[in-house]
Amino acid sequence: MKLCMIGTGYVGLVSGVCFSDLGNDVICVDKNRNKINNLKKGIIPIYEPGLEELVLKNYKNKRLKFSTNLKESVRKSDIIFICVGTPTKKNSNGADLRQVYAVGKEISKSINKFKIIINKSTVPVTTGDVLEKIISRNKNKKYFSVVSNPEFLKEGEAIRDFFYPDRVVVGSNDSKSQRILKSLYSPLISKGAKYIPTNRRAAELIKYASNAFLATKVTFINEIANLCEKTGIDVEHISIGIGLDKRIGSRFLRAGPAYGGSCFPKDTKAIVSTANKFKTNLSIIKSVIRSNEKRSDLLSKRINFILKNKIKNKVVSFLGVTFKANTDDMRDSSSLKLIPFLSKKGAKIKYYDPTGSKKEFEKLKNVQFSFSIKESLRNSDLVIVHTEWNDFKSINFKKITKNKKLIIYDMRNIYSPGKIKKLGFEYFGIGR
Ligand code: UDX
Repeated sequence: MKLCMIGTGYVGLVSGVCFSDLGNDVICVDKNRNKINNLKKGIIPIYEPGLEELVLKNYKNKRLKFSTNLKESVRKSDIIFICVGTPTKKNSNGADLRQVYAVGKEISKSINKFKIIINKSTVPVTTGDVLEKIISRNKNKKYFSVVSNPEFLKEGEAIRDFFYPDRVVVGSNDSKSQRILKSLYSPLISKGAKYIPTNRRAAELIKYASNAFLATKVTFINEIANLCEKTGIDVEHISIGIGLDKRIGSRFLRAGPAYGGSCFPKDTKAIVSTANKFKTNLSIIKSVIRSNEKRSDLLSKRINFILKNKIKNKVVSFLGVTFKANTDDMRDSSSLKLIPFLSKKGAKIKYYDPTGSKKEFEKLKNVQFSFSIKESLRNSDLVIVHTEWNDFKSINFKKITKNKKLIIYDMRNIYSPGKIKKLGFEYFGIGR
């Protein structure tokens, strides 16, 4: 099929490349000329394992094209995916839909034959209805169908999540577009993906409800971890003990430094904002947002306790600063609160991250990037394992540092406390 992806961020580029790998002709459109020119040279703007080789392969076999010309790309395609950003609005918790609606208007002026126009961006319930109205101002409804087809791609695992989704959700109010979408996704359905045809508003809500529930699950285990720290229990035992109950499930039950990223924080706020508009109180999600926002304060107090209230002039190493492993994404990472806190208290911070130094810390005094784990640990009083990169999972602390008094704060519980203590180091974890 002939597809057009509008927006070449995580969603648009990953989905576009994967659709082309399934044999479709795909044009990825972006108004950022520099980005498009780089993509044509095989320079990928995002860190996503495996993406570069897929882009090169499909660009070479001409199934994947890049363009800045939205009008021409829409005219050549049958299915148009809107994959632009829907960030949180500056002065409220609602999703900023200006880009979605602007693209919808541009598409409406380029419709030369029947098109399926798909919202793949995460959008609040009723966005599809508004988009339909915007497009029908310029084009009769018989020439298009607006569909919601949310993505469930996790950063760092996006390609696998695309090719092996638990489910494909397609929200449409007409059977013709349902039939066409089912055929587009047939290669994934034949490999076991569940195809969930529903109406447009339901599909929009499924996306938000999924992310809000996952954020709730993570926050739940983070709060249980707080209780574990007070009662001498290891939260990892709780995660296993409850996760084996099939009604609960063991995924997204890893206690950590707070959820971050470009989705959970944005989507939890957006679903609450939508509910408020419909005079519905989502009290659980509101408390999840509050609990997660307060978590960095809790961890800062714990760091202060670990350093016996003497942070000034202490050398603190951060291993990993991104919001999770296998991404270079810093959005809403808890390190963006923890490092400034320590810097303000007069600590000397050295951080190492496999994806390199971060502009977010450039202006902070006494914060410097280290080019290796060893360099980051040199003369350190405390090492904080902030992100669960594989690179950190087999560090031989005995060999890598001479400082016998090094304290290890394992914010992802990737080490065995017993093993670390046996090496003679002081160990702190999360919920243990
Ligand atoms: C999320 C959803 O998982 C994905 O389906 C959606 O399409 C986009 O948003 P992503 O934001 O990439 O994906 O990250 P995810 O892997 O979900 O983790 C979100 C946050 O929760 C991260 O900060 C992560 O560290 C944290 N997390 C996740 C935990 O603290 N514990 C866990 O067990 C799992």
